[in-house]
Amino acid sequence: MSQRSRTAVLALTAALALLAGGCAEAGGVRGTPGSAGLRDPLFPKLGNGGYDVGHYGLTLAYDPASGRLDGTAEITARATQDLSAFNLDLAGLTVRGATVGGAPAAYNRAGNELTLRPHKDLPEGKQFRVTVTYSGVPEPLTDADGSKEGWLRTAGGAVAVGEPAGSMTWFPGNHHPSDKAAYDLTLTLPAGLDGLSNGVRTARRTEADGRVTTVWHTAEPMASYLATVAIGRYETGTATALGSVPVLTAAESPAAAGSAALRGEIPGILARQVKSFGPYPFSAAGAVVTQDGTLGYALETQTRPVFPASSFDRTTLVHEQAHQWFGNSVTPATWRDIWLNEGFATYAEWLYTEEYEHVPARTHFARAFAQDANWAFPPAAPPAAGNLFDPPVYQRGAMVLHKLRETVGDRVFGEILRGWPAKYRHANATTDDFTTYAESVAGRDLDALWQVWLYGDEKPDRP
Ligand code: ARG
Ligand code: ZN
Repeated sequence: MSQRSRTAVLALTAALALLAGGCAEAGGVRGTPGSAGLRDPLFPKLGNGGYDVGHYGLTLAYDPASGRLDGTAEITARATQDLSAFNLDLAGLTVRGATVGGAPAAYNRAGNELTLRPHKDLPEGKQFRVTVTYSGVPEPLTDADGSKEGWLRTAGGAVAVGEPAGSMTWFPGNHHPSDKAAYDLTLTLPAGLDGLSNGVRTARRTEADGRVTTVWHTAEPMASYLATVAIGRYETGTATALGSVPVLTAAESPAAAGSAALRGEIPGILARQVKSFGPYPFSAAGAVVTQDGTLGYALETQTRPVFPASSFDRTTLVHEQAHQWFGNSVTPATWRDIWLNEGFATYAEWLYTEEYEHVPARTHFARAFAQDANWAFPPAAPPAAGNLFDPPVYQRGAMVLHKLRETVGDRVFGEILRGWPAKYRHANATTDDFTTYAESVAGRDLDALWQVWLYGDEKPDRP
């Protein structure tokens, strides 16, 4: 290298160093990619690391005739590390474009992971806005237990259910229950069709082209598996619960008429549950009853659970409403903690029949104790993804609560049932959080109880 070119190189190096230094002074950071999953014990790839979502703004247009969905997801999040890239979960559909902080972002897809690379790295703590525009015909997921979830096409339109992973079939997001957020959803449909979703309907308007748009607001934090949309010809009913909570129910014609009476019982059921579980955690309530033929189960979608017409019965309604406290407000930290949802919602059924049908909880307990299927695994440890909704989670989960009630007595048990949703209101909790909390209220160690009923592999000799 000649003296002259050496001088040039040195000058260039100095200039680059200056540039780099200048950049650092301007607050630039060099981040690393957020993780592509949150290592859930049963669903390791669900969710993503490096950020925390505060709000989803979803703008959707759906055409039932073609099945085509056009969406824009506007996600407001905060970086929890210096980030060079991060993922959203999205299954199927075609991404048309993405921005981060208002500037176009590079994106890349692999399986159900959508990776976004902002043009400038994001410093830890920074709040940022992501937009993803996408379209396509959503494909439902088939779960390990054979059931279908996600965006399901029905004879009359569609219904979207997302436990545990189906919400990624209709919007990109951080699809793990540990990242809860507020939502605003705008849904545009051909004239003549109704759209329902979670929360409160804040607007309804007819577009210039005749399509109809409704806007839905979910103020309280919601895990993405609890987001829903129902599209079809629905008959709606309104009421007020608990003095001030607006109740909006909807039933798809022609199932509508037959469900009206039970839909009318929602305020009464909630009034009863408030006494057992404490204040209702949300600013809206209701139910959506869809025609049979597509959805195979009811789901406790936030504020407004959905039911296939054939499972819209009082017991199931009580169960799904109880989930508003247990699951929706107090949300499991991981999917392994699912008994905190299903065990409690099942126990809510037992409490209901105790009060209204003169069947004491102990009768349900004895029946559940006798059934072999309930002893396949301990409720605190479903062995695999396909066992998430198996009998031990529901029935043996409820048995744990009944044993707790027998051990600490009705008064302390009642305090625990009300105090638990108060302490973890709109938050996430683990099984350990529950045992610790119950012991603190009871003022004693309950290890023997947990070892046998919550964690034990063997069925005890006596109930
Ligand atoms: N959480 C629902 C309930 O309590 C059950 C959801 C079943 N989902 C499924 N994919 N099998 O009734
Ligand atoms: Zn349930």
